[in-house]
This record gives sequence, structure tokens and C-alpha cells, in this order.
Amino acid sequence: MRLLVLGGTGFVGGATVAEAVRRGWSVTVFNRGLHGDAPAGVHRLRGDRTAPGGLAALVGGEWDLVVDTWDGAPRAVRDAARALVDSVPHYVYVSSGSVYAEPVEPGSDEDAPTVEAAADAVDGDYAQLKAGGERAAVEIFGDRALLARAGLILGPGEDIGRLPWWLGRVARGGEVLAPGPRDLPLQYVDVRDLARWLLDRGAEGVGGAYNVVGRTGHATMGELLDAAVAVTGSGAVLRWTDPEPILAAGVVPWNDLPVWIPLGHEYRWLQERDVTRAYAAGLVCRPVAETVADTWRWLREVERVPPRAGRPARAAVGLAPEREAALLAAVSGGVMPA
Ligand SMILES: NC(=O)c1ccc[n+]([C@@H]2O[C@H](COP(=O)([O-])OP(=O)(O)OC[C@H]3O[C@@H](n4cnc5c(N)ncnc54)[C@H](OP(=O)(O)O)[C@@H]3O)[C@@H](O)[C@H]2O)c1
Repeated sequence: MRLLVLGGTGFVGGATVAEAVRRGWSVTVFNRGLHGDAPAGVHRLRGDRTAPGGLAALVGGEWDLVVDTWDGAPRAVRDAARALVDSVPHYVYVSSGSVYAEPVEPGSDEDAPTVEAAADAVDGDYAQLKAGGERAAVEIFGDRALLARAGLILGPGEDIGRLPWWLGRVARGGEVLAPGPRDLPLQYVDVRDLARWLLDRGAEGVGGAYNVVGRTGHATMGELLDAAVAVTGSGAVLRWTDPEPILAAGVVPWNDLPVWIPLGHEYRWLQERDVTRAYAAGLVCRPVAETVADTWRWLREVERVPPRAGRPARAAVGLAPEREAALLAAVSGGVMPA
């Protein structure tokens, strides 16, 4: 297989390249050359896909599959797809569950309505950018476009820092505010399982939209944090706390306490998407303990979460230590800070 990855030196693209190299595929990455390294043997093409003439390096190339991780302006997907439509049989666009138009019913599948977005848009919010990217891929490649609507992506290389924040917090030890309930079902995908699925289905020429995340409850909040305690060896004590007082104190799920979206929250659907189609199409998800252990190993190697490759910086995730301490004290004393 000859694979072209548009991007390829960050989190998802990097894992996709690593998996393809592991398979012995011929791999080319196309990016500006500003971020990250490609493994030995990977061909590097340079270009800025937002600049006039920026796709010139793709002209004359031939590949069996392209994977595009773009999350900027949809027009860049449209232009790249146009440049490649005659030389590549299949286009995989790494999309997101954020494309669904709110309110979204928990348990919805791929037929749920998506937000309005144009294939040639040059801006928009994240949902519009991803939905526009999907539209651009389908407009040019039709049923030769595979739309992989990932959800929360965890694993080595994670550049948003959600699981890394929990690992760092648990590694610091002491009492840790653990947002309950302990058996809260999570929905996420390990980046390496996502990469395998993208390449397997892309190589087969599968088209259409898929929610590519694990089943809700593949792991629980308790299993995730227990694995973090075990792997860091910090002896941290998880102080399981009901969601109500945490929310009443103004803590924002997902951002202040990453990964956590309590039952009944307006964004709970992000952890309860129907994934029947992806599992029927061969998605296999590794145990949470493996994701946590490998992310911890990676984090110790790199020491800090890397900046996102070529993407706008996101607000830092995680509760400040003083705020967590105040919450813990309030839980013990029975009075939560407002
Ligand atoms: N993290 C999550 O939980 C989550 C959840 C759902 C979906 N997703 C989706 O997963 C994807 C994550 O992608 P990633 O950032 O990890 O991809 P990536 O392909 O690993 O990294 C981004 C690449 O884009 C290149 N790039 C940036 N600007 C460019 C430009 N103007 N022209 C050409 N290349 C450019 C960067 O290299 P240079 O800077 O050197 O050009 C880099 O190689 C996104 O589509 C996101 O929407 C993520």
C-alpha cells in the first residue's frame, strides 16, 4: 500500500504513520515541515495547504489511500481532495462527533443530523469546520470518502493533555478529587486502535460515516483512575465524590476535570454515541490499563505534553491545585465553595 497522510506529524497523524510503517507500507507525509519528525523511511513532501499553490508538491504523486487529519477551514480539504481525486482511489477524513447538531440524543447513531456547514468555508466553529471538511471530502470523492467520526482520543502522543493531566495529578500523590460515580461509563478510543481501523477500512475502500470510538462503558471513570494510580505507583488516594457538589462548586466537566461528563449533563451524548457500525466494521479497542500505562511511559519520556502540531493552542485542561484542595477540604468538612 502507498499511503499519503495530509499532516502526519502530530497525535493522530503520527499514530497513523507509525501503524502504516509497522505494516511495511510505503508512507508519504505532506505538511509544512514545522512540527515533529517522521519515522525513518517516510517520504516528506512540503507545502502549506492554506497558501496559493501550496499543494504543488502533490502533483504527479500516486497513492492507494490518503488520510487527512485537517481540522481547519473546509476549503483546504476540498482543495486537497480536488488535487488528489484522479490519483488516489480513496480518501479518509478524520472527523469528529462534534459534527452532530445539538441537541443530540444520547445513543444516536450516524444518521443523526449534522450541523450546517459549507464545503468551501474558510472559517467557522469547530463543529462547522469538521462538518464542512466531511462535506468537502464527500463532494469530491463521493462514496470513496470514509468519514471517521472519532470521539475522545487518548493514548501516547495525546496533545490536548486530558489523560496526561490525570496522570500528572495522580503522580503528585495525596488525596485526589475523583469525580463520581466510580462506575461512570466512559467512551473514548485509543489513538492506535483508531489508526488501525482507519488503515484497515481505508485499504478496503470502505466509504460513509462511522462513529469510531469504543463502546460506552469500555472503561469506567474508576477503572481509568485506578489504572493511573497503579501505573504511577504514587500511592494517591482517590476521593470519590458525587457529581452534584462538584458541579455546584462551578467545576466544568470535561475541561476542569478532563474526560469526565456526568450522567444527565448536556454534553453527556459525547460519551454515549452508538458505535454498532464501527464495531461491525472491525473496530477493536484495547484495555484501558494498556492505554494508561503506555501514555504514562510516553509522558515520562517527553516530560511534558507537546504543543499541538500546527493547530491553534487550546485552553489548558485540568483543575488548579488550590481549587482542588479547596474542594477536597469542603468535601471533608461538608461545605463546598461556590
Ligand atoms: N483529540 C481528540 O480527542 C479528537 C477527537 C475527535 C476528533 N479529533 C480529530 O483528530 C484530528 C487530530 O489531528 P492531529 O492534529 O493529531 O493531526 P496530525 O496530522 O498528527 O498533525 C497535524 C498536522 O498538520 C500539519 N499542518 C498544520 N498546518 C498545516 C498547513 N497549513 N499545511 C500543511 N500541513 C499543515 C502539521 O505539520 P506542520 O505544522 O509542520 O505543517 C501536522 O503534521 C483532528 O482532525 C481532530 O479534529 C480529535
